[in-house]
Amino acid sequence: MKIVMAVIKPFKLEEVRDALTALGVHGLTVTEVKGYGRQKGHTEIYRGAEYAVSFLPKIKIEVAVSADLVASAVEAIANAARTGQIGDGKIFVVPLEKAVRIRTGETDGDAL
Ligand SMILES: Nc1ncnc2c1ncn2[C@@H]1O[C@H](COP(=O)(O)OP(=O)(O)OP(=O)(O)O)[C@@H](O)[C@H]1O
Ligand SMILES: [Mg+2]
Repeated sequence: MKIVMAVIKPFKLEEVRDALTALGVHGLTVTEVKGYGRQKGHTEIYRGAEYAVSFLPKIKIEVAVSADLVASAVEAIANAARTGQIGDGKIFVVPLEKAVRIRTGETDGDAL
């Protein structure tokens, strides 16, 4: 199992969620975050307004997936989140040791 963590442009959230749902992903955690990439200190457009500051609003998505879904989840997120402009975001894949579905006690693949 892996955690696929992605930082994306906020307006891309619905598209990314739809793409993951189409793959059979059943759950998702979303956090409002701020960050910057390589253009730190440079201007990037966010909802028509220019931000001359280093930190820009982003959405972080975390999804736990079984090993067989990792590649397709990464591809789905990348395709859905891409605009081709700077600031499209990044995807990180992190090992996941254990998962527990609290209500049922199911673990690992059964818990996702
Ligand atoms: N090395 C990193 N570690 C952690 N988070 C990062 C890293 N790089 C980017 N991020 C996060 O991803 C967001 C989007 O990054 P961004 O897409 O601007 O990366 P980039 O490398 O500058 O690519 P681009 O040139 O396409 O803009 C950042 O605001 C930050 O939250
Ligand atoms: Mg950037």
